[in-house]
Amino acid sequence: MPQQDSASNQNADMSLYSDVEHSYIRRRGRFTKAQASALERLAQHYRMSTQEINTDLRELGIEIGFGMGHELIVWGQEQPQKLLLGIELYQPGIGSMLSRLENLKIGNVALVDEPAQKVLAELTPKSVSEIRIFFPDPWPKKRHLKRRLIQPEFLEQMLVVLKPMGIARLATDWAEYGEWMAEHFAMNTNFKCELDAIRDPILAESGLTTSLDSLGAVRGRTKFETRGEKLGHRIRDFTYRRVS
Ligand SMILES: C[S@@+](CC[C@H](N)C(=O)[O-])C[C@H]1O[C@@H](n2cnc3c(N)ncnc32)[C@H](O)[C@@H]1O
Repeated sequence: MPQQDSASNQNADMSLYSDVEHSYIRRRGRFTKAQASALERLAQHYRMSTQEINTDLRELGIEIGFGMGHELIVWGQEQPQKLLLGIELYQPGIGSMLSRLENLKIGNVALVDEPAQKVLAELTPKSVSEIRIFFPDPWPKKRHLKRRLIQPEFLEQMLVVLKPMGIARLATDWAEYGEWMAEHFAMNTNFKCELDAIRDPILAESGLTTSLDSLGAVRGRTKFETRGEKLGHRIRDFTYRRVS
C-alpha cells in the first residue's frame, strides 16, 4: 500500500537529517521587491503538499535545487502533461520562479519548499519518472563534504521514489564533485550510467568540443553553469537509469 510504504520510507530516513541539516538551512538571501511580493502572493497557490502529490494521477518529474527556476519552467512548457515538482529553499529564487509561472500561465509546475531529503522520504515509492539535479552546491572544503546532496543515502532515497527505468540527470561545473558523483553512482549497481559527458567552455567556443545539444543534455544553460563557465570550469553532465 503506497501510504504505508511512504511512512516506512520516511522513518528510515529520519537519521539523515541530523547529518545534513546544515546543508539546507532555509535561505532567505536578498530579495528584490518583485521576488518578495511574488513569494508572498503566490507561494500558497503553487505549493503542493506531499499528500496532494501522492494522490495526483499525472506522471511525476522533479527538479531539486531549481535556483531561479529557468530550467524547470522550460521543462514545464515542454511537457505540460506531467506534474513537475520544483524543490528549492532559496526564497528569492522561489519568488522569481513563481512570478514567471504566473506570467506564463504555467499550470503543471508545483513548488515544494522543503529539503529534498525530507520530500523524497514522503513521496510514494516508485512514483517518479525523472529527477533533475543541476549544479548542486559543491561544498569544496573537506570538512563540508558531508553537506553534499549526493551521498550514498540520498542515492538510495532516489531509488526508492524512482519508477523502474526512471531517470536521474545531473550536472556540475566542479570537477571534483563530478568525480564524486561518478564514484557514488558507480558504487550503486541499481543505477546504470547512460551519459557521462564533459564539455570544455573554452574549446566549445572554438568548436573543438561538443555542444550541450549534441551531448543529449535536456537542459539549457543554467545561471550557475554560466558562472562556472566564466571561471573556465568544465561542465560535466550525467544521466543514470534505475535498472532494478
Ligand atoms: C548552486 S545552486 C544551483 C541552482 C540552479 N540549479 C542553477 O544551476 O542555476 C544549488 C541550489 O540547490 C538548493 N539546495 C541545496 N540543498 C538543497 C536541498 N537539500 N533541498 C532543496 N534544495 C537544495 C540551494 O538552495 C541552491 O539554490
